[in-house]
Amino acid sequence: MGGGAPASCGILICQPSPKKEPTTMLRILSGIKPSGTLHIGNYLGMIRPMVESQKRGELYCFIANLHSLTTLFDGPRMAKNSIDAIVDMIALGIDPERSVFWLQSDVPEVVELTWYLNNVTPVGLLERCHAYKDAQAKGIPSNHGLFSYPVLMAADILLYQSNIVPVGKDQKQHVEVTRDIAIKFNSLYGEVFTLPEPEISEEIALIPGVDGQKMSKSYNNTIEIFGDEKATKKKIMGIITDPTPVEEPKDPNNSTIYAIYKLFADKDRATLMADRLRAGGYGYGDAKKELFEVLWTYFEPYRKKRLELADNLDYINDVKKQGAGKAREIAAITIGKVRELVGVL
Ligand code: ADP
Ligand code: TRP
Repeated sequence: MGGGAPASCGILICQPSPKKEPTTMLRILSGIKPSGTLHIGNYLGMIRPMVESQKRGELYCFIANLHSLTTLFDGPRMAKNSIDAIVDMIALGIDPERSVFWLQSDVPEVVELTWYLNNVTPVGLLERCHAYKDAQAKGIPSNHGLFSYPVLMAADILLYQSNIVPVGKDQKQHVEVTRDIAIKFNSLYGEVFTLPEPEISEEIALIPGVDGQKMSKSYNNTIEIFGDEKATKKKIMGIITDPTPVEEPKDPNNSTIYAIYKLFADKDRATLMADRLRAGGYGYGDAKKELFEVLWTYFEPYRKKRLELADNLDYINDVKKQGAGKAREIAAITIGKVRELVGVL
């Protein structure tokens, strides 16, 4: 690998690599940073695929609080966001009985593995990673944590011998870097790590925000999953549209409203909106109202569950403890092998 370009698997849904431990199920792993305000881009790009993957394999899902430390320097807020993220993910369908669900910092082995991986990671590989490159380009001073962010992410993935990593498109490079690091480690020390594959759904690769750019909390263009009714309506009514008058035909494929609507509405309703837009006489204001209705109804059961959970912090703490226990059992197997290979006894 040396200082060469990161090897890419170049496919979206790749075949799983041979596993090192005898198990018949695919191990699917992903993490999410506790940002405090999950948006529908996070939901479609990453949370929903994870929830759905509980049906087809062993799901490993965690709250990546250590990654958040690269940009958040407020201890009490970090602690609150982490608990909120646990609550949000369970409310949205992560089942702690069926999956391994934990808080990243509850498994200290991940930090140890990061150090072993650091020593086989070329600086050039990290210099090419877009999060760091973007910060450089914008003249934002970056810290060492941000620079080595992909190595911690590699440790997250490799510690649990994951086969598949469902992420949004923006995280694909990090999974490719993980593969590069794993290949380098395996070739130096022996085949210990499973090579993971990123899994990205083309249809929902990038959800647009209310301004039409990629929805992201950094662009202040998000529609929150758990925003209150008034604020959510206001956000949706503020979606930027072109100036085509109500009576004129409109192209649904150029509409942010339709782009989001079709991912939440059932097929018939989505087709109906597309037809109405094309026919003319149907304004963007009407489409926005429908989008609000569909989103508000879609998330209603999740809002209810979230309220119940927020009232039951004993249960949340219990989930956190149990999840950490299950994750550490698996982590111990990998870290034991790695220690032996690198000669740390
Ligand atoms: P943000 O860009 O708001 O900071 P994060 O970087 O925390 O979001 O992303 C968390 C997860 O959600 C990642 O897997 C990411 O790929 C996915 N994600 C974020 N925004 C979008 C989007 N607009 N479309 C699809 N997936 C997204
Ligand atoms: N970097 C991911 C993000 O910003 C979060 C993350 C941390 C992650 N470790 C991971 C995702 C391991 C998948 C696998 O969204």
